[in-house]
Parts: sequence; structure tokens; C-alpha cells
Amino acid sequence: MFTFNLYLARVKKRISWVNRLIETTMKYGYFDDENREYVITNPKTPYPWINYLGNEDFFSLTSNTGGGYTFYKDAKFRRLTRYRYNNIPVDNGGKYFYVKDGDTTWSPGWKPVKTELDHYECRHGMSYTKFKASKNKLEVEVLQFIPLGFWGEIQKVSLKNASSDTKKIKLFSFIEWCLWNAEDDMTNFQRNFSTGEVEVKDSVIYHKTEFKERRNHYAFYSVNSPIDGYDTDRETFIGLYNGLDSPDVVGEGQSRNSVAHGWSPIASHYLEMELKPGEEKELIFMLGYVEVEKDNKWESKSVINKQPAQDMISAYDTSEKVNKALEELRTYWDNLLGKISIESEDPRLDRMVNIWNQYQCMVTFNMSRSASFFESGIGRGMGFRDSNQDLIGFVHQIPERARERIYDIASTQFEDGSCYHQYQPLTKKGNAAVGGNFNDDPLWLILSTTAYIKETGDFSLLDEMVPFDNDASRAKSHFEHLKASFYHVVHNLGPHKLPLIGRADWNDCLNLNCFSEDPNESFQTTENQKGGTAESLMIAGLFVVYGKEYVKLCKQIGKEKEAEEAQLHVDAMVEAVKEHGWDGEWYLRAYDHFGKKIGSSENEEGKIFIESQGWCTMAEIGKEDGMVEKSLNSVKEHLDCDYGIVLNYPAFTKYYIEYGEISTYPAGYKENGGIFCHNNPWIMIGETMLGRGDQAYDYYTKIAPSFLEDLSELHKVEPYVYCQMIAGKEAHKPGEAKNSWLSGTASWNFYAITQHILGISPEYDGLAINPCIPSKWDGFKMKRVFRDVTYNIEVKNPEHISKGIKKILVNGTAINSNIVPILEKGKEHSVEVIMG
Ligand code: BGC
Ligand code: NOJ
Repeated sequence: MFTFNLYLARVKKRISWVNRLIETTMKYGYFDDENREYVITNPKTPYPWINYLGNEDFFSLTSNTGGGYTFYKDAKFRRLTRYRYNNIPVDNGGKYFYVKDGDTTWSPGWKPVKTELDHYECRHGMSYTKFKASKNKLEVEVLQFIPLGFWGEIQKVSLKNASSDTKKIKLFSFIEWCLWNAEDDMTNFQRNFSTGEVEVKDSVIYHKTEFKERRNHYAFYSVNSPIDGYDTDRETFIGLYNGLDSPDVVGEGQSRNSVAHGWSPIASHYLEMELKPGEEKELIFMLGYVEVEKDNKWESKSVINKQPAQDMISAYDTSEKVNKALEELRTYWDNLLGKISIESEDPRLDRMVNIWNQYQCMVTFNMSRSASFFESGIGRGMGFRDSNQDLIGFVHQIPERARERIYDIASTQFEDGSCYHQYQPLTKKGNAAVGGNFNDDPLWLILSTTAYIKETGDFSLLDEMVPFDNDASRAKSHFEHLKASFYHVVHNLGPHKLPLIGRADWNDCLNLNCFSEDPNESFQTTENQKGGTAESLMIAGLFVVYGKEYVKLCKQIGKEKEAEEAQLHVDAMVEAVKEHGWDGEWYLRAYDHFGKKIGSSENEEGKIFIESQGWCTMAEIGKEDGMVEKSLNSVKEHLDCDYGIVLNYPAFTKYYIEYGEISTYPAGYKENGGIFCHNNPWIMIGETMLGRGDQAYDYYTKIAPSFLEDLSELHKVEPYVYCQMIAGKEAHKPGEAKNSWLSGTASWNFYAITQHILGISPEYDGLAINPCIPSKWDGFKMKRVFRDVTYNIEVKNPEHISKGIKKILVNGTAINSNIVPILEKGKEHSVEVIMG
């Protein structure tokens, strides 16, 4: 059976290569590395290709056709504008402009009007997006961004008449208000239909629904020019039987000055403009969010206090002020990205490491898994395991924010080390509806904390008093939280002395204590096998990796006794894996509720899984007995394919009640045989443990988005960011990707490439150098700002090997360790590394 499956896989592999050839050279834009932008030149991308605006507190999602929405901190509780997920067509609704030039109406983002444009370009940059479009010699540019530290989004609209005749044009803006619990739009809209309230004064439309009772916040949409009309009632503006592409008001060329009372409030400005030949005009629109003191809400009866909005508007009421803010944003990103930058032999690698991967790490740090074009902003808040992992790709950028995040996450933990699986970003409180008991969760706190301390040298975090379950009276030092995390595993071992899996481990869909026959029941919250005995080899490997980290940390801070005791538990786990976790050619994945093996050659399906190969090889369990090498060879043989490494093989083709959600997905998708990009870097890192740099890098290039640009037609999602899942070799359409942006893939790939393949990693006492690169490389350069010291590192590979260092020269002098010490701060230092 297995041999037959292998044969099938080979045939499929051949077919997929043919597909690949057919589908190559299908691009929808290009990388502009100089400006750190991806330039989309065809609005009809295979899926909306989006960008994130805002870096802290206030955010927008913007697609390449102007779709998306804006929120303050929390996309569920403070969504400013409406967005309809799962719509037909996809991505309908956003911040739109309608330009009426004679008989032609068009939109600079192409949508919603979809008039064929003479020129279209969407430049997604670092926290800004710029549309450039032209039609009939009228050029319009829309620049969107959120100034640093500001709770408002700016749209600078520039219009230029490039014709030789005077043009009289009409411009309509459009947004649709939310600013209520966004979930209500799907579940309780009957209420919203009667609550909507607005005010219009001068050129500003204020949205004040629910302001008179419990909200001390409102939103506004302004333009820095007198207007010729407005609309705030959606049905009046669009007409009940039209779509967003053809609003009644735009068709008539005249707004109706409607004032919304209930139904669906919107904001649309109407401006008439005359442009002489060659003439240019600029307008500044602002979508803002205001919080006021409870006793300072009103100007007069029922008239809201507009002063804070006015102050915001005047902060950016000229092009000079806006341009300056954009410059500041650029400098901000120069600094952030300047902390790690490389020069290699491949521009595709450089643009991932220097620009896009780091950018995505900031976005995943900000959003966790809450709001993307695949995540609704409602269902998921900040994940305990997710946010801890996101941090390892971000901590070098803004360590202070990482520190605060660690504190927030740890505050949702319980005394026994267990924790809520998620918390809401606005309240920072554990989300009881999602529950807990995912037994991998606690260990990730050791990862994030040690990554933070190694980056910063700031051990004081360990002494910080951190609440349990958000209850300050139950606070203990952060170190006690780490200890609780470590011992949560020790106190929850199963019959083979391996970690109990709980509700699931990293793989949310391996639900071994949930035997569900009821389709109305969630796999994620059902746990009906009491006294569960199911065990996880993934957690076992994870425990050994972060158990060793815990021991190392204890030694660093002089807790020798604790280190010794913890080491015994780690050693015992290594033994348990060797004894009960090895299948002969690879590590098992788990033991099910009945004590049967999962991920064994004895199984009919799901014979081998990636997660335990990743963690047990990173932990180097049984390396001396050849286990690491065998395991990784098995990964190559059974799990690797053209598009990356699949999660398990063969994928499940029937429902296994004792395995849970994993066996519900069709073969080749998601956790059932999909290429779950998040765990591919675990194998890359495993490969570096063996010194196999060619293989590690080959895996890297298979899923790194910039390497897939030519495959966009098949791949579908953005070629500048990682996605969660690419359909695997047993899928109907191998290579097709989904769930771009919010995935642990971002941080793990950044971590794997910079710290393990390029091999420059922060340690407690310096910067460790241990590259494991493709043997054909002559070397590479990395500039690394670490603890306020700039290291200009040049790695030379004259003998064309993958791993091994002959010599390290620091400012010209040889050192006899591979850890470059912390040198004089504020200065640049040269580090020359000769491999050999
Ligand atoms: C997984 C999904 C799964 C979901 C639970 C996610 O973490 O990636 O595949 O369906 O959890 O519903
Ligand atoms: C996505 C989830 O956000 C993450 O927590 C989980 O580990 C993976 N899916 C795998 O199930």
C-alpha cells in the first residue's frame, strides 16, 4: 500500500511539474526593492493582495483595489468601518473614490467601478499603499497611511489634468460606518438598523452611533476643503437595487445631503473641481477615531464635542504636514529594518530578509491571528502560542513592545502553568469561550522570554511581578511563570512518560481527547475523553528544546539547583522519546487515547508527521544513534514535494473519530497533508543540526514567497508574504496557497534563515556565529545591530562547505570562540568569518 502511494506521489509530482511549467511567468507586478514596495500592475490579481497600515493601536487593511477596513486596537470591538467577509465577489467594500470626468466614471483603485483604466498601479510599501491611476488624461494618485502614533488614517488624493483642455470633474468619497461590535453585523443587525446616528459640520462627517450611552468614542471622516455636498445614508447614496459599482448619487452626479437615522450610516463627500491643462490639486481626507472624557462628551445637547477631531484634522491639513509624516514613517522603517540586513548572492533572499519577512513579522506581532482577509477579526484574538512565537521574528525591532507583550501573555496564565488559549487585544483578558488545555501552550513562553533576554540582555523581566489569570493579587515573578510552564509538562505525563497532549498540541486539529460524532460541535472546544492518556511526541521534542533553554537560563541567573533538577526532567524526556517515541526510521507523532501509535509505519494512513521530526531533530534526540539523520532522510523521502514539506503522509482519506479535526480535511489540505508552512522551518533548522546547508536552503526556497512570484497564477496569494498553507502533493491542486499574512510561518522562517542558515544568533553573552549555508555560496554579508552595537559581518566560504568555521577576526584580531562579544556601543565593528 505504502509503495503504491509512493508511486502515485511520483506520478503526481511529474504532473505538478508540467503544471508548473504552464503556469510560470504569470506575474501581476514586480518588486521595487529600492523603495521597499511591491508594485501591482494588474488589478485582477488571483486573490486580493493586501497591505497593513498602522504600527500600533490604529490599523487598516487595504487591498490592491481599495477594499478593506479600519479599526482601533480590536477588529471586533472597535471596527470603524464595515467589511463583509465571504462576499461575492470577494473583497467588496472599502474606502472608495468615484471620479466623474464627463461621461466616464472610474475609481483610482479600479474597484468598485471597474472601468478599464489607461494606467493602474498599486504600490504596497512599508505601512503605506499608493494607488496611481489615469483615465482620459486625468491622473489620480491616492496615498494611504497612518502617521506614527496617530489614531487616524490619511488619504492624500492628488489629481492632475494631463490633457490640453480644462476638465470639470466631480469626486465622491465613500466609506461605510461600523463602530459597534462587528459581530453584530452578522448576528444582530436588526438592532444596528435602528441605532445609526451621524452629524455633519463643514467638511466633516461624524459617526456617533451609541455615543449617547456607553461609548466615549466616535469616528469622523473629513476632507481639508469645502465640499459641495455629502451623503450619510447608504440607501440614499447607492440606491437599494444597485451595487457599490454604480451608486445612484454618482450616476446623477449630485449628492443628496442625506442624514442617516438608523439603517446603514456611511460617509461620502462630494466635491466639484475644475482643473486647467497641466493643473494639479491635492486633497487630504482623514478617517479618525476619538476618545473623550466621560464628562466632556458634548458641546451642547446632542451635539458631540468635536474639538479633539478638529485637533487631529489640523495636525495634517496641508500636503507639507502629510509629506513630513510619511517621511517620518519611512525613517521609522529605515531604523527597524536597518537592524538586520544582508547581502547574499540572490536578490530574492535579500528582499525577504531585508524587507518583506521582517515587515510581516511586525504585522503578525500586531495582529496575531485576528484580522486578515482570511481571519475575520472577530473569531480569534491573540493566541497564547501564536503571540509567543510571533515575537521571535520581531523582538530585535522594538524590544520594549516585545517585553510588554510577554507580560500581557503571561498574565493570562494560571498558577499550574496552563493558560487561556487566546485573549482579546482590547481587554487583554483570557477568552473563556476558546478555553485552554492545549498542552504545548505554556512552553512557548520560555521561547519568547529567552529570545527577549538574549536580544536585549534585560534579565529584569524575570523579576517583574506578573498576574495569574489577570488577577493582580495573584501576581508572582515572571520567572515563576516560566517555572510553571516547565513543570506543567512534568506534571502532565502519560503512560509512556511522554507529555499528555490535552486538547491538542501545536496542531490544533489533532484532537485526541475529543471523540465527536456531532457536526454541531467544535473540535476545538470539545474534550470528552476524561482521564485522557493521549501523548504527544511534538510536545516531547518541544520540551527538550525549551527545557534545555530553561536550564541554561537558570544557570545564567545563578539558580544552579533548579537547573540541576530541571535537567533531570529533560534527560528523562530524552530517554522516554528514545524508548517509546522511535518508529525505526522516524519519530512517532503521538499515542492516541487507546495507547495506539500515530505516525508509525504500522498505521495505514498518517504514517509519518512533520511536527515530531522537526522538534525531536531540533532537540537532537538520539543524534548519536543516527536518529536525527534517519528522521530527516525520511522527511525528504515521504514528506517533501515540489512546493514544500507536507504535514503528514499519506493524508487521511476517512474520518478517524479518535484523531479529530485532522481527518476532516480533504487529503492535501490544511493540517491533513497540506504544506503547513509554519513547520517547514523546523525541518530546515533540524537540517542545520546535521550541517546539511544545501538541503536546509532548498526547503527555504520552496516556500519563500519571493521565490514563487512567477507561480502567482497557481499560488494565488501575495508573492511578498508567507501564507499559512500551500496545498500538498495529495491535494487536488498542489501548490495553491491560502491564508496569507497571519501565520507563525513569518517569524519561524525569519528565525530559521537568519539564526540557523545564515547562523547569526543572539546569545546571553554575545552574537553567536554558526552558518550552515549552501555549499556553492562564496559567502554573504550581514549587518546586525545588537545591543546598540553595529556588527558588519562578512562570512567567506573559500572551500565551499556548508558548515564549519576556521577563523573569526573581530576588528582584525582573531578570537577563539564563535561568540562575538558585546563590543563598544554606538560603534561599528567588523567581523570576518572564514569558513573551513
Ligand atoms: C487551524 C485550522 C483549524 C482551526 C480550528 C486553526 O489553528 O489551522 O485548520 O480549523 O484552528 O478551527
Ligand atoms: C493556526 C493556529 O493559529 C496555530 O495556533 C496552530 O498551531 C496552527 N494553525 C496549526 O494547527
